[in-house]
Amino acid sequence: MEKKKAVYLDNAATTSISTEAYRDMIDAYGKLYGNSSSLYSLGREADFALEEARAKVAKAIGANANEIYFTSGGTESDNWAIKGLARANRSKGNHIITSAVEHPAVLESCKALEKEGFRVTYVPVDEFGVVKYAEIIKAIGPDTILISIMTANNEVGTIEPIRAIAELARANDVIFHTDAVQAVGNVDINVKDMKIDAMSISGHKIYGPKGTGALYVRKGVKIDKYLDGGAQERGLRAGTINVPAFVGFGTAIEKTCANIEENNKYLRSLRRYFLKTVSERIHNISLNGHPTQRLAGNASISFEGVEGEALLMLLDRDHISVSTGSACASGSLEPSHVLLAMGQDENARSTIRFSFGLNNTKEDIDYVVNRLQKDVKKLRSISAIRIYKNKVEL
Ligand SMILES: Cc1ncc(COP(=O)(O)O)c(C=O)c1O
Repeated sequence: MEKKKAVYLDNAATTSISTEAYRDMIDAYGKLYGNSSSLYSLGREADFALEEARAKVAKAIGANANEIYFTSGGTESDNWAIKGLARANRSKGNHIITSAVEHPAVLESCKALEKEGFRVTYVPVDEFGVVKYAEIIKAIGPDTILISIMTANNEVGTIEPIRAIAELARANDVIFHTDAVQAVGNVDINVKDMKIDAMSISGHKIYGPKGTGALYVRKGVKIDKYLDGGAQERGLRAGTINVPAFVGFGTAIEKTCANIEENNKYLRSLRRYFLKTVSERIHNISLNGHPTQRLAGNASISFEGVEGEALLMLLDRDHISVSTGSACASGSLEPSHVLLAMGQDENARSTIRFSFGLNNTKEDIDYVVNRLQKDVKKLRSISAIRIYKNKVEL
């Protein structure tokens, strides 16, 4: 019998922390306990380390350090960006454009703004999850103040044409924000070249600590403050700063962004191997997302006639971690809004997201595919959707 082993294939939900980020963070927790706002040397030392980390984040995305604000993660960055940019620029108009496949952190922020009287256009996507550029052009009006389109989708891995959308926004004097939580560390991003005005980043998706993130806001772009209080984060986000965590974040982003090409080569080889073995051994499956414009480490697969949640639970019994849709949507048993927007009604409940990380190996994949083959067969044989018993080869 095959020996059970733990395989983590949910790196899009969160990664483990890298050895280097962990080392630097723990070191800082021990030594840099001064408050980074204090004037004496212990405080100044902490502040120095914080600013070093900020410079690393800025360098990784081609920004200036004074355009980086530390946050608790992608959700906070998205909330701050959408609400803060919209409210600060309301005198110019009240229309926002976003897409139907954004993360809930963006969609729910937009819904909150609708209650304040903002008007939001949710632009549709094609069957690959690519935002319809022509619909954005159509939606832009004299009252449009903000366009927010994600750089890469968290569920299906599709990379959006944000360079073109950012240019369009700039040409129309509209602020462009992108949720780059899944893209940073996986896709080369230079905010200046790409004309990005604001961008959300998360630390725990790129081998950094949880509870860390950043919001880039281009100098000169007006944004409301996020937290009232002291003068931290240039007066926009008050509160004593978790310096050691951001030190770890700085280490993680520096390393991950310096090795994008090499990392992607490895992740692509894992993904290719996985798809080849899965499609050889399991029939009636379909791959979601764009075939080429995509994240290297994401494979979203729909298994016809299989309840995604049931498959997830069976895999978990064998210590395999995957997700249905996104981590935030899973648990809700709602079909994925991303797959629905891509026009996949039937598949929306039969989908598993496998997301590979730098710690995964081909042996992991062999183990997962073996279990997957057995589990899919089992679920199809007892499927409540009986039609599949006749239609699908087990
Ligand atoms: C595209 C995207 N945006 C935002 C978030 C939220 O980030 P965080 O978990 O750091 O709050 C996620 C997390 O899955 C994401 O994938």
